[in-house]
Amino acid sequence: MKHLRIPDVKNKKQQGEKVTMLTAYDFVLARLLDEAGIDILLVGDSLGMVVLGYETTLPVTLEMMIHHSRAVSRGAQRALVVADMPFLTYHISLSEAVQNAGRLIQEGGVAAVKMEGGRTVVDVTRRLVEVGIPVMGHLGLLPQSIHQLGGFRPQARGKAAAQRLLEDAEILEEAGAFAVVLESVPAEVAKRVTARLSIPTIGIGAGPHCDGQVLVSHDAFGLYQASVPPFVKQYVQLGAQLKKAAQTYIADVQAGRFPAQEHCFEGTTEVSSE
Ligand code: KIV
Repeated sequence: MKHLRIPDVKNKKQQGEKVTMLTAYDFVLARLLDEAGIDILLVGDSLGMVVLGYETTLPVTLEMMIHHSRAVSRGAQRALVVADMPFLTYHISLSEAVQNAGRLIQEGGVAAVKMEGGRTVVDVTRRLVEVGIPVMGHLGLLPQSIHQLGGFRPQARGKAAAQRLLEDAEILEEAGAFAVVLESVPAEVAKRVTARLSIPTIGIGAGPHCDGQVLVSHDAFGLYQASVPPFVKQYVQLGAQLKKAAQTYIADVQAGRFPAQEHCFEGTTEVSSE
């Protein structure tokens, strides 16, 4: 099967086709979502929260991202795999950022990286693109700036903030980003940005006018119940189903219903007399 590539994702906007993206953190989920036909698998640093149980994405390290990226890359046969650059791996110097992004590509097997921020990451975006590493931008609610933002709150609600976000999106496009995630911004702001850019916008809590949509899989499929953002549509309650299945298993073992005859190997009871 042919892998989707960066130009394919960009062409979707030109052809009026929506880009679909979901997060994945391991081989099993990646393979399932890939077989379902998803365009992009994002190894999001949200893994810190929904897989590792931290309260924010800040404790996620490059080593964790490489480890999970490798598993996702092995599961993806068609989807483009993008990995988040974790907190502080692209802020210290350009050379460190190139080295870190390079490890995600070489060791993690991903095709592109995502970084949070607009004008603040323009130099590093340009440098990565120059060396051949595709970059996805991320504007609006920036989870790596959670302490500065004061919580997971919608962004760009005022006129000045909306204008700044629009400028940031243009700056990222000009620096060579191939797509931009817009997180938790008013639908009208996302619509304006989408109309202004020639690269795809991918929304999460940003309304229906973006060129594509992304959700955190554990939110969408009911696996992470700690706090589900209001913009999430839950397509299935896998967590509840899994819990029920585990309770049935426990009851079966306790009552001696499992294993039954069909779960046992056939074999002789005769013992050699030697
Ligand atoms: O880390 C992540 O899952 C993300 C999505 C919310 C876009 O960045």
